[in-house]
Amino acid sequence: MIRLVALISGRGSNLQAVIDALSAQSLAAEVVAVISNNSNALGLERARQAGIVTRVVDHRDYPDRAQFDAALHQAIQPFAPDLVFLAGFMRILGAEFVNQYHGRLLNIHPSLLPAYRGLNTHARVLAAGDLQHGASVHFVTPKLDGGPVIARVAVNVHPDDDPERLAARVLTQEHQLYPMVIGWFAAGRVRLHNQQVYLDDHPLSQPVELDFGESSCAAL
Ligand code: GRF
Repeated sequence: MIRLVALISGRGSNLQAVIDALSAQSLAAEVVAVISNNSNALGLERARQAGIVTRVVDHRDYPDRAQFDAALHQAIQPFAPDLVFLAGFMRILGAEFVNQYHGRLLNIHPSLLPAYRGLNTHARVLAAGDLQHGASVHFVTPKLDGGPVIARVAVNVHPDDDPERLAARVLTQEHQLYPMVIGWFAAGRVRLHNQQVYLDDHPLSQPVELDFGESSCAAL
């Protein structure tokens, strides 16, 4: 049984998708703790409902990022995770923290990385007039949203989209993408070595492109 710790800041719908998938698919993985920098995060309530231990490490209690990162690391360590996954975790993590979890730290980002790192991806995609958008799961490295990408899912941009509508369609896909990639990790199918992603022992020259079929609204 591999041990997962989730880091969240808010709604936690991706966390919920992972929790639901783990129980439905009886994968050999368990979310052993959910840690948030925000005590009001809805995701904490989702975790409690699922009987998962929660912790809060509020970034406002620390004078700088290094001390916050150290406190976060201390909060994570007792749970001895095989994998830490970021699910809407809205703090930038420093290199020292990230390097401690090399190869066992994942993030989901709402864009087709390497395009649109950072925030407000949906509005930026619309402003650019792109026809496609999507989400990516990647190993976290010190470069923000810049670590090796494992898999992506694309979503068509519609002419009448606004950022909220587009975000909701991307989110529906995220809820399938993240549990799938975490399942690969749990099954020992995906790993990182020297900045190179391996899937089933084959180096990936580009991310796996997944297609779950688009549906109309996200389960928030
Ligand atoms: C998702 O869009 C995720 O890709 C991004 O932040 C959002 C989190 O949503 N990193 P939720 O908290 O999982 O509902």
